[in-house]
Amino acid sequence: MAEIDLLRSLPKTKRNVQARAMAKTPERIAASREFGELYFDGPREFGYGGYRYDGRWIPVAKDIVRHFGLKSGDRILDVGCAKGFLVKDLIGVCPGLEAFGLDISEYALRHCEKEVVGRLHLGSATRLPFPDRSFDAVISINTIHNLDAEGVVTALREIERLSPGRAFVQVDAYHTEEQRELFMQWVLTATYHDYPQGWFDLFRRAGYRGDWYWTVLEE
Ligand SMILES: C[S@@+](CC[C@H](N)C(=O)[O-])C[C@H]1O[C@@H](n2cnc3c(N)ncnc32)[C@H](O)[C@@H]1O
Repeated sequence: MAEIDLLRSLPKTKRNVQARAMAKTPERIAASREFGELYFDGPREFGYGGYRYDGRWIPVAKDIVRHFGLKSGDRILDVGCAKGFLVKDLIGVCPGLEAFGLDISEYALRHCEKEVVGRLHLGSATRLPFPDRSFDAVISINTIHNLDAEGVVTALREIERLSPGRAFVQVDAYHTEEQRELFMQWVLTATYHDYPQGWFDLFRRAGYRGDWYWTVLEE
């Protein structure tokens, strides 16, 4: 188990926290949590404001392959794969790697990259439809915090079941009260978020032995 920033090479996103905070309503939050067109490709108040492939995940894919020592023939699953950008890049940077994805959003899967057609499964992180130990690594980036605490524990158990000790999760967290306040203004879909200690308690309850990193909002 290790803390490792596998997303370090992603460009930093500029976020207008004030505009988001002003625009947030219970109706918009509910619409975002449907993870449909509004969330991915609607206005910024509902989520991404346009989720398009631009190659930014290629260096992340390289770091993931290196971190887990993946090679041709190995199998990796991306839980919360959205439109499959990272799945596509994992295959691109490691030819022969069997990369797959799973997401709860039918909209995202219907708008996936053509290279990953047939590799993405519709489903929930809490119930992964794969046999025990069927992957060499499982990753889940900015996804399981959309569940409540019990759901997070279930999802972590599922990840551990598929790939014992060889996984990576990145989740919403904060280290200071200022970061927590900023996060609370920004957050749309996350249900469970916490200081690292709260996350570590859930990791322990789930018997999760993989790696992790935090998505922390900063001014
Ligand atoms: C913030 S996006 C992250 C997408 C991608 N991993 C990335 O980092 O760009 C969250 C993703 O989690 C998916 N999601 C939300 N709840 C889920 C669940 N219970 N099981 C699987 N996927 C879920 C959403 O549809 C969405 O694609």
